[in-house]
Amino acid sequence: MKLGTCYYPEHWPESCWAEDARRMAASGLKQVRIGEFAWSRIEPEAGRFDWDWFDRAIDALHAAGLEVILGTPTATPPKWLIDRMPDMVAIDQDGKPRGFGSRRHYCFSHAGYRAEAARITRAVAQRYGRHPAVVAWQTDNEYGCHDTVLSFSEAARLAFREWLTARYGSVDALNRAWGNVFWSMEYRSFAEIDLPNLTVTEANPAHWLAFRRFASDEVAAFNRIQVEILRELSPGRDVVHNYMGFFTEFDHHAVARDLDVVGWDSYPLGFLDSFPFSETDKTAYARQGHPDIAAFHHDLYRGCTPNGRWSVLEQQPGPVNWARHNPAPLPGMVRLWTLEAMAHGAELVSYFRWRQFPQAQEQHHAGLLRPDNEPAPGLAEVTATARDIAKLGPAGAPPRQVALIFAYDADWVTKIQPQGAGLSALWATFACYSALRGLGLSIDILPPTASLEGYGMVVMPCLPIVPEALVQELQRFPGQIVIGPRSGSREEDFAIPSGLPPGPLQALLPGKVVRVESLRPGLVHPGDDWEIARWREDLETSSELELCAHDGTPACWKHGQTRYLAAWPEPRLAAYVLRRAASDAGLTLHALPEGLRLRRAGDRIFAFNYAAQYAELPSTIQGKPVLGERRLPPAGVSVLER
Ligand code: GAL
Repeated sequence: MKLGTCYYPEHWPESCWAEDARRMAASGLKQVRIGEFAWSRIEPEAGRFDWDWFDRAIDALHAAGLEVILGTPTATPPKWLIDRMPDMVAIDQDGKPRGFGSRRHYCFSHAGYRAEAARITRAVAQRYGRHPAVVAWQTDNEYGCHDTVLSFSEAARLAFREWLTARYGSVDALNRAWGNVFWSMEYRSFAEIDLPNLTVTEANPAHWLAFRRFASDEVAAFNRIQVEILRELSPGRDVVHNYMGFFTEFDHHAVARDLDVVGWDSYPLGFLDSFPFSETDKTAYARQGHPDIAAFHHDLYRGCTPNGRWSVLEQQPGPVNWARHNPAPLPGMVRLWTLEAMAHGAELVSYFRWRQFPQAQEQHHAGLLRPDNEPAPGLAEVTATARDIAKLGPAGAPPRQVALIFAYDADWVTKIQPQGAGLSALWATFACYSALRGLGLSIDILPPTASLEGYGMVVMPCLPIVPEALVQELQRFPGQIVIGPRSGSREEDFAIPSGLPPGPLQALLPGKVVRVESLRPGLVHPGDDWEIARWREDLETSSELELCAHDGTPACWKHGQTRYLAAWPEPRLAAYVLRRAASDAGLTLHALPEGLRLRRAGDRIFAFNYAAQYAELPSTIQGKPVLGERRLPPAGVSVLER
């Protein structure tokens, strides 16, 4: 695994560049990611390019032996472009334009902006496509950041109608598929169909799902235009994009089909503070991040490309600026996050960013250097980690233990129609992932179309729309299967299956879900050391009742090798059910102290201590320490070899 950094030569005087490059190389960094926001400097006016400074910046990096990942600058269209094409901006759900003055102020569906994005991509690729320093390209930056996937613009409306025409063929077919007879919502032509915003109350969920599918396809199409240009003009280089954390607004599996390497941006402390973790976790892990945040995304994005190639393109090196609270990491965490990415098979960890910029929106966001050019605390950890990586050599392949199935349309369905606060497929998936990691297991997060060969266990935490191919794969699967609530509960266009949920999964478990209910906080059915909360389902089934609450409310049904979790996968309930399934699957489980996590890679076990106190490896974990000890300090990492 290589280390790298994100660098913005346009922020600094040219006199710094050679020395910056020298220091990067001396710190153990090998790759530098540049250019993704530099459009106004590359092309200060329409058609007038200023390449000289950029040539010299790239040459300075090259001279120091650094490899370059070059970003296409399409996330930051310059002012002159907006002025020429004011309708290229996205429109928010309330109908307001998303104006100039930050970034991502464009609509994915705007044909004029697509042409401009293609033009600047072609220009940059023509200039640097064969430069010996350039080893990879990053398309744009964080598609969807700042809530920018859905645009309610005129361009989107027209493109949506075309998309609907291609999908449904006739408006009668669409009316039937969406159930538009309800509330007299029937259309007489595709030209009558608007976007699902600005309705009096909620729009038809089928309308929303179609719009989300369309919007996701628009992101993939926008990306593909750049990929094709880069492949033509820069052969042999990887094309990557940087995905975000806990973000489901477009189908990341679909976009990844056009990429060589999936990248993601890892900000564990910002994510802990910004997402719905418990107050206890937010406090306990404020300086470490929840122990499963980074690993969850490593495993999710590794599953996005068929070859499993992935990288961390931005790694938090200190406090960030954008969460509600932005603490500094515990000493050692930058090293821990880096080695954990290595254990999960990353090709690169690139720190965001080289030097903290004292102006504009991210003034308080750390870099590896302070604005006065002195090292920030993260830099020494990076240098130490580079030595660890050299010592350890390649991480080794992960074993196939648990396949966790996640689909982006699952999260769209639960977002569009939550039927209860906080019930999302993404968070159900995270809860199951976290429970499985807590048992010491290695997990691959896969799309529903993936092969399940070689796994001991398959878990589908919440998969409303189940493709037929998955049912067939599961029917052949010899291991343990756990099906979570709401799985198989919707057909392609949002209807409840005529034979009732779990729809096609009835092939694995005889029975039907005849009623669902969501439960307000406090309305719980306690079990031994777990409880049914938030959501539960009544089944009519001939399966065996494996687990019920003290008041007799069913929590889990079992039929042969298949379990059906009839309640929301709350952490303790998920842990209870998954432990039973994993032990039926014959997987080795470990009783881990709070905050300790493991990752198997080849004949090694990596251990990571996210706790703020020492943690001891349980005796079930065997091997000779090649890094660290069996007793791990806070933020400690140990590697054992068998
Ligand atoms: C990412 C983004 C970077 C920078 C960073 C700050 O979302 O890609 O450009 O803004 O966050 O944490």
